[in-house]
Amino acid sequence: MKHTYISTVVRSLLILLTAQLFPLVSCADNADNVPRQIPLSRVSVIPLPQTLIHGAGNVVLPQQVSVSTGLTGMSATLLKETLTAVIGGAPAEATNEQAFIRVFTDNTLPEEGYRIQVDETGCNLYYRTQEGLLWGVQTLRQIFLQHKVADDDTRSIPMLILTDSPQKTWRGFHLDVSRHMFTPEFLKKVVDCLSFYKINKLQLHLNDDQGWRVEIRKYPELTTIGGWREFDEYDKRCIELAHTDRTYEIDPRFVRNGNEYGGYYTRDELKDLIAYATARGIEVIPEIDMPGHFSSAIRAFPFLSCTGEAGWGNEFSWPVCTGQTDNYSFYTDIIDEVADLFPGRYFHIGADEVEKDNWKVCPHCQALIREKELMNVDGLQNYFVKHMADYVRNEKGKQVMAWDDAFIARDPQDLLYTYWRDWLADQPGKITQQGLPIVFMEWGRFYLSAAPSDRHLKSLYEFEFGPQFPGVVQSNVVGFQACVWTEMIPNERKFGQHVFPALQAFSEVAWGSERDWGGFTTRLPWHLGWLTQNGFYSRTPDFIN
Ligand code: ACM
Ligand code: ZN
Repeated sequence: MKHTYISTVVRSLLILLTAQLFPLVSCADNADNVPRQIPLSRVSVIPLPQTLIHGAGNVVLPQQVSVSTGLTGMSATLLKETLTAVIGGAPAEATNEQAFIRVFTDNTLPEEGYRIQVDETGCNLYYRTQEGLLWGVQTLRQIFLQHKVADDDTRSIPMLILTDSPQKTWRGFHLDVSRHMFTPEFLKKVVDCLSFYKINKLQLHLNDDQGWRVEIRKYPELTTIGGWREFDEYDKRCIELAHTDRTYEIDPRFVRNGNEYGGYYTRDELKDLIAYATARGIEVIPEIDMPGHFSSAIRAFPFLSCTGEAGWGNEFSWPVCTGQTDNYSFYTDIIDEVADLFPGRYFHIGADEVEKDNWKVCPHCQALIREKELMNVDGLQNYFVKHMADYVRNEKGKQVMAWDDAFIARDPQDLLYTYWRDWLADQPGKITQQGLPIVFMEWGRFYLSAAPSDRHLKSLYEFEFGPQFPGVVQSNVVGFQACVWTEMIPNERKFGQHVFPALQAFSEVAWGSERDWGGFTTRLPWHLGWLTQNGFYSRTPDFIN
């Protein structure tokens, strides 16, 4: 199989080289035998494809660009939208033989792989799966959007051969919508952008101490009470900073009565978002964070905590009382509704940063530790996580995810761990050596909520496991995820300044592109312009100023 694929590539290269030796490029001459002024162009594709060989010339787009009728679905819609913008009118449709843009299946390609060949006759896109086709179309969109316009107004793209496929299947983006919310329309725009950069997972952090953001029909108070807060310390800091820096303004669409912040996503809004993302190659993963980070629910249902109220410990909020097993059905009811709402394969149950002091003195918690011989509060946390994970796995048929805080080396659970605590640098080694999978999203580089800077951008871009993370079994790293916590990100402008262009750098890490910082910095400016054109804010790196 591999041999066939390689020989196909070699054949394509030969065709391209032949074309260069005998250029048929219509831009070469005009009636006066004076070369027309079409600058030889290079494409700036992000994430950088596996191999990209430019030909010797450009191909002038015909008066009527036509797309193969073999291209259907969202891939066709996206490409046609782009072509309409580029050529100023809707492209025509034609059979594969007649069309300027043609599509072919090639079963020798990797799962998400694709190949593009642009020569004087037009453009061929080869793919194996619908995902591969979509990623190929996203690359084609970048190529067409970067077309060159000559003095005589003709438009051209460079001849090239490009082969591409990702190294890892998980290329994720995590967004906290609890601390600050974003409108469903904005989330759709983010989805468009993620798909443009071949990111294929979106994890939504749907609850935290500051707000509950997903409608649960059985417990409406989760949103009517838990979805609202009086401005908290972060809001107040944002408001203070906004006096001199407008980028910290709290989005007024989520404020009521002057000092209350909140809102939530209805089931219909989430269904619509999920369908929108799925069509664009992105699986949306719900996260319901428990047993800690649960104060918004405890405010609405105080019986859930050990003390009968919400509160704050030394570092984190009071968790739910894991000793009261009668309450477990409350959590599984929530899991039922959320798992049914999100049809994807994964469900994240949080399990990070649990302040366990209340459990040490709570009679219910202590009784359960004794009854189940759990030894201590860590055993109790593991018991609770195991109960919820088993429920998600066995009753909902999903693969269960949790933050790496849930990993207990002596009693490891069958979870997909999102690894974030870079101060526990041997943790990814320990987890993966047990044969368990991780999504790698360590705090130092993959948390885009950190203060953005060129230094951070470069260090993210150049990420390698290296000696910092000893013993990682790479084959158990399913992929990478970028992560945005929104305590200090109260609006779309601030979001953009944190996320872009870090997302572009991240996409090359996640896709597994060969890293070349210099090349990245020369490819980046076009993408910053594209972000602006598409209504995103971004940070302009110092090296571009
Ligand atoms: C986390 O940052 N608490 C997962
Ligand atoms: Zn308790």
